[in-house]
Amino acid sequence: MVKFVTFLLLTIVRLAVAFPAYDSIAGLSEREINKYITRNGVAEIPNPPLPLPKGQDGLKLVNDPAHPFIAAGPNDIRGPCPALNTLASHGYLPRNGVARPDQIITAVMEGLNLGNDFAKFLCYQAFLMNGNPLTNLMSIGMKTPLTGQDPPKPALVGGLSQHGTFEGDTSMTRVDAFFGDQAVFNETLFQGFIDTATKFGFNGTYDVNAAAELRNQRLQNSIQTNPQLVFTSPRILSAYSEAVFPTIFFVDGRLNNRQLTIDAARHFFDLQMMPTGFFRQPAPVNFTIVDPLVSFLFNKHPFSPGVNHGKNNFVLQPQTPPLSDFCGIYEDIVLRVIPGQYPKPTGALKDAINKNLGFFFGAVSAEHNCTQVFPFGRD
Ligand code: HEM
Ligand SMILES: *[C@@H]1O[C@H](CO)[C@@H](O)[C@H](O)[C@H]1NC(C)=O
Ligand SMILES: *[C@@H]1O[C@H](CO)[C@@H](O)[C@H](O)[C@H]1NC(C)=O
Ligand SMILES: *[C@@H]1O[C@H](CO)[C@@H](O)[C@H](O)[C@H]1NC(C)=O
Ligand SMILES: *[C@@H]1O[C@H](CO)[C@@H](O)[C@H](O)[C@H]1NC(C)=O
Repeated sequence: MVKFVTFLLLTIVRLAVAFPAYDSIAGLSEREINKYITRNGVAEIPNPPLPLPKGQDGLKLVNDPAHPFIAAGPNDIRGPCPALNTLASHGYLPRNGVARPDQIITAVMEGLNLGNDFAKFLCYQAFLMNGNPLTNLMSIGMKTPLTGQDPPKPALVGGLSQHGTFEGDTSMTRVDAFFGDQAVFNETLFQGFIDTATKFGFNGTYDVNAAAELRNQRLQNSIQTNPQLVFTSPRILSAYSEAVFPTIFFVDGRLNNRQLTIDAARHFFDLQMMPTGFFRQPAPVNFTIVDPLVSFLFNKHPFSPGVNHGKNNFVLQPQTPPLSDFCGIYEDIVLRVIPGQYPKPTGALKDAINKNLGFFFGAVSAEHNCTQVFPFGRD
């Protein structure tokens, strides 16, 4: 009997991994599948989800009856990313905030219309720094036993809130880790977000001009106040991308004017909720759309990467790639950041990491001419 149940569970897990499901399979919820994988060690790693099919990749009501907002309960994990928090609160992601990379990619494509390559780029990057390659699970917030048995240290498996990995300094609505909880929404900082929109945005919205000013303000503020500020690769890229994202993805796709109202910003950042009747972007959003906006922000207030050696003592780091060097940042992630946590992986762990590195490069190379690098050999 036990054997049969195990066989059945294994079959269901195989099916679930082979066909990443939007909903439950044979009565087992995605969450139960995750729990099962947690108990049973090395998980099979499904291929990345495909782009949304033509004809199903357009404008769509996404705050719909199938995805009701339910506020996070005491055991549900939320973290530094307002988009993933919101997708979890609407059930596009498992509501407990622990998910597989393929679930996260599907969620951001379905819920916000991220382009497939862009979704894979963000997700595999984060997963390699913050996820558990053995169980194929990642927390969208703090570290949790729900991601299963950790691989050996110095691997962190810290979840998206882990400071100094993907999470970093100068966030728009979160304090630097030096000052407190780097993952939690901060109302004082959000008031600064509103002030910037009022001063610099069209009609008081958070638009690309407001984004350029806020991004620079947050950097200057950290330079002046945070003795341990780190603003180098890879954080520089996420910092600038994340300043742009709200002007795109948090704006209702029917209007799609790149002007985020304060009301909609309040919904996503603070309430972790889509506005009533919210429609996603009218077409998948790729690097071709985001890159020029990131450059616009940079050109308004150029900077060089560096770290503080004490307050207001910003020391440039010429060896770290600048924001304009996308392939350099890719190589820095793969050759420095990831081996920092996995110096000499072997066996199933190495296989799992290499597989995710391959998925990551697939996304990197889709719209950028980078050369693949192999920190652990090619096999
Ligand atoms: C697979 C997809 C994604 C992953 C893994 C991810 C991960 C993260 C992480 C780790 C942070 C914290 C960085 C920090 O501030 O220190 C973050 C912040 C942020 N993310 Fe995401 N994210 C994803 C997709 C998105 C999307 C689609 C949006 C669309 C709006 C978005 C918007 C933001 C914003 C605005 C912030 C900055 C919050 C702030 O500075 O106050 N993210 N994300
Ligand atoms: C929110 O941020 C402000 C400004 O950085 C800071 O003074 C305040 O202590 C933060 N609040 C919390 C609860 O961390
Ligand atoms: C400016 O914002 C108000 C609401 O805050 C809105 O009613 C009005 O249509 C907006 N004007 C323009 C030109 O977008
Ligand atoms: C990126 O998106 C734009 C706008 O939807 C589209 O025209 C373009 O073909 C896309 N580029 C790639 C490489 O997918
Ligand atoms: C891509 O990079 C290769 C190798 O550096 C180079 O030979 C090629 O011309 C580049 N292609 C484009 C389109 O930039």
